[in-house]
Amino acid sequence: MSSDAGNFPTWRGRWTFILAATGSAVGLGNIWKFPYIAGENGGGAFVLVYLACILLVGIPVMVAEVMLGRRGRHSPVNTMRAITAEVGARGYWRGLGWLGWMIAMLVLSFYSVIAGWALAYIPEMAIGAFQGVNAQSTKDIFDTMLQDRDRLILWHTVFMLMTAAVVTAGVTRGLGAAARVLMPILFILLVILLVFSYWHGDFARGFSFLFSFDFSKLTLRGVLEALGHAFFTLSLGVGAIMAYGAYMPADASIGKTVLTVALLDTVVALMAGMAIFPIVFAHGGIDPGAGPALLFVTLPVAFGAMEAGILIGGLFFILVVVAAWSSAISLLEPGVAWLAENRGFNRFTATLLLATVIWLLGLGTVLSFNDWAEYKFAGLTFFDGIDFLTSRILLPLSGLLIAIFVGWVLAPDVSKDELNGENSVAWPLWYWVLRYVCPPAIGIVLVVGLYDSFS
Ligand code: TRP
Repeated sequence: MSSDAGNFPTWRGRWTFILAATGSAVGLGNIWKFPYIAGENGGGAFVLVYLACILLVGIPVMVAEVMLGRRGRHSPVNTMRAITAEVGARGYWRGLGWLGWMIAMLVLSFYSVIAGWALAYIPEMAIGAFQGVNAQSTKDIFDTMLQDRDRLILWHTVFMLMTAAVVTAGVTRGLGAAARVLMPILFILLVILLVFSYWHGDFARGFSFLFSFDFSKLTLRGVLEALGHAFFTLSLGVGAIMAYGAYMPADASIGKTVLTVALLDTVVALMAGMAIFPIVFAHGGIDPGAGPALLFVTLPVAFGAMEAGILIGGLFFILVVVAAWSSAISLLEPGVAWLAENRGFNRFTATLLLATVIWLLGLGTVLSFNDWAEYKFAGLTFFDGIDFLTSRILLPLSGLLIAIFVGWVLAPDVSKDELNGENSVAWPLWYWVLRYVCPPAIGIVLVVGLYDSFS
């Protein structure tokens, strides 16, 4: 990222943003989390509700976040400070910057552990551990890995170091360039997997599982999960997108840009789902509701049966790591930028400090799959608890506050002015949805969904 983005020719600035934002948005949320939560919630109806959440809540809030970032042109905490001062809003709105920061640290703590699983799978693929295996043996391989605490800690550590290295060096731009090459390859691999699933999996059943809307399977809890995931997958609510918005050229269209990012993100999630579920149904012994294990026990079956499985499987997990890496950077960067801007830390110390705290928290997630698996609070392990707290409480809450702030606290002229390049139908439509649809929808789903989760 470059702070002189405003001087770039428009097309270049816009695409720089799209690349950075897509790098942040496309990650484990699409490839790992979306398929498993869709599976746990019975498929079709959940997917439809999820798509509705992206369209009616995710996209409008994303426009609001990018707009705030471009208006403030600082790290998120300072952007919120500058804007609240500019419009004379009450000081506590600044807390939004803080809330985001805290959520980002919590999310990254488990994100890094899961990315570590993908890292651990690269050497497994390379030595051909999955050649010719069936679903039962992939499950055994996966379970053995989860039991091996030290191995999980090792890969969690490697991933945190990779993330911290890029953030300290401030070379997010270099990674952006790498993502430009690697993301299309990931896309091509997903297409190859889709073709494989079509020929060797139960494609029809996978398809109807994901796209036939059986609302009897949907719970209120599931609706909240869909909403929370819409924020998660678009990287909203923590200031990551706000931070990138600060680099958008003044004359680039925020609306079009956001639509592009959201579309790419959704397509990748649906492709991952369509690669995974046909394999689930073609091989007995895998439950669509297998939970966080789903990605790691299904696709290796496909790789194990392919001609060039070692190569394609190895490459696939490398790309999953790259996708997770560019997302993780966007989770760490805003906090580091703030410590460096305001507290006089240099980037290295700031990164070291935050990464260490996040790494320690991540140990809780590691242990919740082995030594602490039996320790539960309200039926949730440590990992479940952090996931629940972030995805189903804090992200929707943060999104709700952003919608209220931009829709009701900021004068309409501010957003109208900032979104000036947009056409005359889009702005009023967006503003109306942000004011009258987002806050009540998020509020109701949050309250009712939480009630349902605990009753
Ligand atoms: N969106 C990323 C994914 O789907 C994860 C992520 C990056 C994220 N930045 C975020 C999630 C900010 C929540 C908030 O994998």
